[in-house]
Amino acid sequence: MLRIAHALNSHLLGALESAFPEAAAAAREAGMPLDPQLGPASKPEFGDFQANGALALARPLKLAPRAIASAIVAQLEADPGFAALCLPPEIAGPGFINLTLRPEVLAAEVGRRLADPRLGVEPVAPGGAPVVVDFSSPNIAKEMHVGHLRSTIIGDALARVLEFRGHPVLRLNHVGDWGTQFGMLITHLKQVAPEALDTADAVDLGDLVAFYRQAKARFDSDETFQTTSREEVVKLQSGDPVSRRAWQLLCDQSRREFQRLYDRLDIRLDERGESFYNPFLEAVVADLAAAGLLVSDGGAQCVFLEGQDGTASQAPPVIVRKSDGGFNYATTDLAAIRYRFGAAPDGDGACRVIYVTDAGQASHFAGVFQVARRAGWIPEGGHLEHVPFGLVQGEDGKKLKTRAGDTVRLKELLDEAVERCEADLRRRLAEEERQEDGDFISEVATTVGLAAVKYADLSTNRITNYQFSFDRMLALSGNTAPYLLYAVVRIAGIARKGGADAAGVAFPAPLVFGEPQEWALVRQLLQFDAVILEVEQELLPNRLCSYLFELSQVFNRFYDQVPVLKAEEPARGSRLALCRLTADTLKQGLGLLGIPTLERM
Ligand code: ARG
Repeated sequence: MLRIAHALNSHLLGALESAFPEAAAAAREAGMPLDPQLGPASKPEFGDFQANGALALARPLKLAPRAIASAIVAQLEADPGFAALCLPPEIAGPGFINLTLRPEVLAAEVGRRLADPRLGVEPVAPGGAPVVVDFSSPNIAKEMHVGHLRSTIIGDALARVLEFRGHPVLRLNHVGDWGTQFGMLITHLKQVAPEALDTADAVDLGDLVAFYRQAKARFDSDETFQTTSREEVVKLQSGDPVSRRAWQLLCDQSRREFQRLYDRLDIRLDERGESFYNPFLEAVVADLAAAGLLVSDGGAQCVFLEGQDGTASQAPPVIVRKSDGGFNYATTDLAAIRYRFGAAPDGDGACRVIYVTDAGQASHFAGVFQVARRAGWIPEGGHLEHVPFGLVQGEDGKKLKTRAGDTVRLKELLDEAVERCEADLRRRLAEEERQEDGDFISEVATTVGLAAVKYADLSTNRITNYQFSFDRMLALSGNTAPYLLYAVVRIAGIARKGGADAAGVAFPAPLVFGEPQEWALVRQLLQFDAVILEVEQELLPNRLCSYLFELSQVFNRFYDQVPVLKAEEPARGSRLALCRLTADTLKQGLGLLGIPTLERM
C-alpha cells in the first residue's frame, strides 16, 4: 500500500500548499517543508490512514488545529485526484484527518498485486553499493553451537529480505580460523594423532573438538607445552609449510561439517574467515597510529574509548596489539571493517555492514565501531549495525543442554525436530485413515521439522532470550511454522477444487468485495510491502513473522465465515483471487524467512 500512501502524501502536500501558501513557502525556505504527517490509521474504525500535521502547525500558524484541518480538507475535496482515491475525509479529535480509501481503489490494488511477482515491493535502484551480512561465523575445530544456529537462521532471513529488495548482498561467514588456539591444537595433534595433520579426513569434527579440549587442558597446566604451542603459532604465522598444511587440513575438516548443516538448511554463505584479514593487520595498526589513536598501555597497543559526549569512557580500551606482538579478535574485526568499506581491489565498497551475533558481543562491536569511525574508515552514509540476539534456553529457562547435561549438537537437534514431525504426521494420517507413501511422509516431515526450528527462532523478538521447545514449535496452532504452512496447504486445496489456480483462469475484473471479512483480508494483504521495508530497515524478522501469522488468521476467519466455492460470480472469482493472493504472499513471506512451503501435508 506504499504506492497509495505516496500518492496520498502528494495530495496532502498540495492541499497544505494551497491552504497556507505563505507558511509553506517560509517553511521550504527554512529547509523544513510542511509535513502532513501521514501514517496508518491508529484504529480500523478511523479508516486506512490519518494525517496529524494540523496539530504541529497550530503554533506557527496561530490557528486552532481543527481550523487548520478544515482548511486542508476543503482543499482536498476540491482535488479530483484525491477524490478518486479516498472517500470524503473526516476530522476527528483535536484535528486529525482520517482517510478511508475507496473500495474500488483497494480492489484494483489487489488486482495489480495478483499480476505482480514482487507483490507490490518496489526494488531499490540498480547499481547500489553492497550490503554485507556477517553471520553464522563458527570457529574451526569447535562444535557449532545453538548460538551459531541462531545467527545462521536470522542472518539468512535478513540477507534474503535485502536481496529481495534488490541490494547486492555479501553473505560473509567470518569463520574463526586463526589465532593461538591453532598452536596448541597442532602441537597436541603432532603427539597424539599426527595423521590428522597430513592426511585429509583422518579425523572428524567430533574428534577434533575432543582434541581441542585436551590441548586446552594441557596448555593451561603444562609450561613446556605452552612454550612449544607458542613456537608453533609463530611457525604458522611465518608460513612454515608443514604448519600451514596442518592448519589447512583442520580447516577443511571443520568446513565440511559446517557445510552439511548449511546444505540441510538451504543456506548460502561465502567463507571469508579471520585469516583472510592477516595481510591487513599491520596497516590497521599503522592507520590508528597515524590518526593519533594508539596508546601504549603495559606494553599493549590500545585505543581508549570515548563516551557519548566525547569524554573518556569507563569501558575497557580496545586492544589492537597484545604485549607479545600478537593481534586479536578486535584487530581482525577492525581490519574487516576497513576492508568492507574500502574501495576495490582491496575492499568491498559496502554501504552497510550488518553483524549477527549474540548480545554478549555488544560491547565488543560498540568498541570496534567507535574505533573505526574515529579512524575515518566509515564513508559518508556508511552504516555499521550489530544485530544482537538473546540466548537459547531450555524449557527450564537455563542454558540449553541435553538430558545428560552435554551441549546440544545441532545435527541431533534438527534430527529430533524431523523425527517428532514424522511421528506426529503418522499419527494424524492414521486418525484420518489416509494412505501416503514414504516419500510424501519424509518430504513433509523434513520440511515442517526444519521450518519449525527456523520459525521458532525468527518469530520471537530476537533481543530476548528464547526458550527452545519442540512441543511449542511443532504445534499446529499458534504462531508456529506448522500453522502457517497449513494455511498454504488449505488454500492449495481450495484452488484444486475451484480450478482458479489453473493457467488461463482469469479472475473477474474489476474484483468485487462486500463482506467485512473480505475487506479485512484485503487490507492485511496490502500491508506486505510496508512490512518488508520495515524489516529491511529495522532488521527484525519477527515483524514479518507476526504479519504472516496475522494474515493466516485473517484468512482463516474469512474462509470459515464467507462461502467461496459455493458463492455466485463475481463474488466467487473475487474470493478465489483473495485466496490466491494470500497463498502468494504467504509463500513469498515464508520464502524470505528461508522456509519452503508444501501443497499438501
Ligand atoms: N566466531 C565468532 C564466535 O563464534 C563470531 C564472529 C562474528 N563476526 C565478527 N565479525 N566478529 O563468537
